[in-house]
Amino acid sequence: MNTFVTGWGITKFGELWDQDLRSLAVKAGIEAIKSSGLDPEKIDAIYVANMNSSLFTNQEHLGALIASELQIFKPAFRVEGACASGSLAINAGFNAIMSGLYKNVLVIGVEKMTDLDAIQATQALSAAADEEWEGFYGVTFPSLYAMMARFHMRRFKTKREDLALISVKNHKNAMLNPIAQFQKQISVEDVLNATMVSDPLGLLDCSPLSDGAAAVMLSSEKINDHSVELVASEIGTGTIALHDRADIASIYSAKIASKEVYRKLNITPKLIDIAEVHDCFSIAELVAYEDLGFSLQGKAVNDLRNGRFNKDGELPVNVSGGLKACGHPVGATGIKQAIEICMQLSGTAGARQVKKRLHRGLTHNVGGSGATTVINLFSN
Ligand code: COA
Repeated sequence: MNTFVTGWGITKFGELWDQDLRSLAVKAGIEAIKSSGLDPEKIDAIYVANMNSSLFTNQEHLGALIASELQIFKPAFRVEGACASGSLAINAGFNAIMSGLYKNVLVIGVEKMTDLDAIQATQALSAAADEEWEGFYGVTFPSLYAMMARFHMRRFKTKREDLALISVKNHKNAMLNPIAQFQKQISVEDVLNATMVSDPLGLLDCSPLSDGAAAVMLSSEKINDHSVELVASEIGTGTIALHDRADIASIYSAKIASKEVYRKLNITPKLIDIAEVHDCFSIAELVAYEDLGFSLQGKAVNDLRNGRFNKDGELPVNVSGGLKACGHPVGATGIKQAIEICMQLSGTAGARQVKKRLHRGLTHNVGGSGATTVINLFSN
């Protein structure tokens, strides 16, 4: 059995006040169906990834909602795993195809976040943390990642200037991405001087609140020239609360999920040509380089400073602009990451196309402060 990504569709990411949850999801879904060339009658199931539509828009029952809007009356599911919901839904579709249950699965991720103000949105996002031991005491995601950043800084002498390089790189990449929320070049000084959100993370260390949707068609056969194979999909699970972890300078779930992917395919991280990683905050991308084995723990800063992760570097990371600059409509993010990798591997990324030869691309999608990580690996 094999699984191919045979089509994809994506909306603009940003503050889209004139578009609601369903219209975003439907737009991305229709584009993915058209791009695959598949007769909609042949779709066996729909998986909708979403983190928190109840608090963001007071809408639940998303599987049926989107299926009925698309007029595809097949089994429809909603998949939730906080910010990893998108990749988790791809994992569910992958397993359904690999088991022989379904032949074609439409996976749509959507989040409509900007109808709430920043305080309400922060509270809605906090539902993905440990409510009893974190949320109740006022802990937010910026503050959880700020604690991880402080720990990393103390242990490895990481500086705010180093973290800023990640935001600068991702904003530069997003300049070439038409769907990106921010198409604005920033400097290290801009990052260091931005409003402090949760010390040491300022506004420009954070991903924004975003609306948007992304969709992929997963099929058991390669039905067109741009199809890209999804060769592995693994989920790592860790403690939901940060204080229960032995090491908060890394994310255990990301380490185990990536190790399992490498083990199953009998490859090493050196064989990854391109990656989209979960930079919800600048520190998260630095930690990802180390958890994925791209750099030794405590040494990723050197690789970053040397430009290894730049678009024209040895291992381009977040060519889409990442969550930081492309935007982070939570349920759509993992699917957007998959689309970027599929576009790069199929040579259809246009102005963003990486020049070097690409064979394997990886997505790293983290839920919460790391209780869930999904690693998907694609190959052409
Ligand atoms: N990066 C760059 N610019 C941003 C930004 C970000 N993350 N967030 C907002 N802005 C910009 C806005 O576009 C706006 O620019 P303008 O004045 O030119 O229009 C300006 O900053 C003020 O925007 P505003 O909407 O008032 O910001 P805010 O205070 O409501 O929100 C944050 C800022 C950091 C609180 C919000 O982006 C946030 O909560 N981010 C984290 C999201 C998160 O936790 N996701 C889950 C991860 S696990």
